[in-house]
Amino acid sequence: MRKKILAANWKMNLTQSEAESYFAAFNSEIGEVDDVEVVIIPSFTTIPALVSASEKMPSIRIGAQNMHWEKSGAFTGEISASMLRALFVKYVILGHSERRALFGETDEIVNRKVRAALEAGLRPIFCIGETLRERDAGKVEEVLSRQVRLGLEGVSQKDLSEIVVAYEPCWAIGTGRTATPAEAEQAHAYVRSILTEISTATVADRIRIQYGGSVKPDNTEELMRQKDIDGALVGGASLDPRSFVRIIRRAEAALK
Ligand code: PGA
Repeated sequence: MRKKILAANWKMNLTQSEAESYFAAFNSEIGEVDDVEVVIIPSFTTIPALVSASEKMPSIRIGAQNMHWEKSGAFTGEISASMLRALFVKYVILGHSERRALFGETDEIVNRKVRAALEAGLRPIFCIGETLRERDAGKVEEVLSRQVRLGLEGVSQKDLSEIVVAYEPCWAIGTGRTATPAEAEQAHAYVRSILTEISTATVADRIRIQYGGSVKPDNTEELMRQKDIDGALVGGASLDPRSFVRIIRRAEAALK
């Protein structure tokens, strides 16, 4: 059984004091979380405060939104995997569509980051997904196959099972337009078939594939009931602690 993983991608939102107020509200509502894993992914500057605030909450982990692939050196403005590890970060989002579209990250760059993260003991949340133009042109499978194969090239079988894949169709991110559960499941099943091709059925069966793109409390449960959907990467709806808690509760309800 793959444990579902719900991650809050805050993007470039919330200062440290806003994050602390968020966390206090989240903490007072969340209660016990046993059946799903929860990851909060704030901006870099807020990571240390949230790591210490979450110390007594073993089921809540803190992640990062990006990193550089080199270990150290003259890369002004960048953050390395070991810097994140030193803050007790467990997960790092890599290849988010905003990084690909706005900051020129290619499959090759994403691949370097994935390998560097794994080498440092971080678990990548490896993002893939087609644009609307690609979907309309009937290229969903072609795009997903390329992103998975190139992004995970050279990753060992053992490391592959550490990865979380996030399927986020670009046209659903921040638009309020979610993929239907059937559309999402079809893409997830296809991604799992590619993962089987690059590894084995046993490894591919272990890899969690999150859905992302306008996930809200109202659409969570049905998405989470799909066979190959193993969690959600939530942007906008995770910025309100109560809404993120409701999403977690809906995901738990989908297990019943
Ligand atoms: P959204 O963002 O939930 O606001 O669509 C998801 C993401 O970009 O990870």
